[in-house]
Amino acid sequence: MSQYTEQKKEIVALSQKAMRQGLYAGTSGNMSLFDRAQGNMLITPTSVPYDILVPDQIVVMKLDGTIVEGELNPSSEWRMHAAIYENFEDVSALFHTHSPYATAFAANRMTIPATLIEINVFLGGELRCAPYAPPGTKEVGLNAIDALRGRYGCTLANHGVLAVGTTLDEAYLRAEYIEDAAKINAIAMSIGKPIEVK
Ligand code: 13P
Repeated sequence: MSQYTEQKKEIVALSQKAMRQGLYAGTSGNMSLFDRAQGNMLITPTSVPYDILVPDQIVVMKLDGTIVEGELNPSSEWRMHAAIYENFEDVSALFHTHSPYATAFAANRMTIPATLIEINVFLGGELRCAPYAPPGTKEVGLNAIDALRGRYGCTLANHGVLAVGTTLDEAYLRAEYIEDAAKINAIAMSIGKPIEVK
């Protein structure tokens, strides 16, 4: 029996919620938790439809790629997750979405401006877009380091969204605010010139 039974159940429950809420599409997106004391990362497996995902399929691995628990391959973006945990000591949960409005900003490589009070309060300020790197490479995470500094999230050029936290609930809430901020900015930009708040 795994010492991470509860955490694996939480990852499955939040993954399925993300699918229902439209933060994920198809099998894209992934989430992880990092047990820094033991050096174990729990991460969703690659390419498993979320409606049939079960807790036993959550992979436990070291940041160097060594598998500790699980029969399936980890998310193809495990290197990105590892790079963030290696570079941000206060981060222990990571949620990567392809939520549509925020990803549209990423497709344009545009910052999501701080035009709403929630963006400063919940996300730390405007959401920067990290430079492009090919999917599955460690560079996806390394390129996000500068964009994430002083923020609880960023977008990834031509790819998606990263939200970080100390718990998955925290990272999840931030991913919701990122999508909300992108959606409202997209609407505001279509009818006028949104004004930033400090
Ligand atoms: P997997 O986690 O299923 O490999 O998803 C890939 C992905 O979302 C690329 O960003």
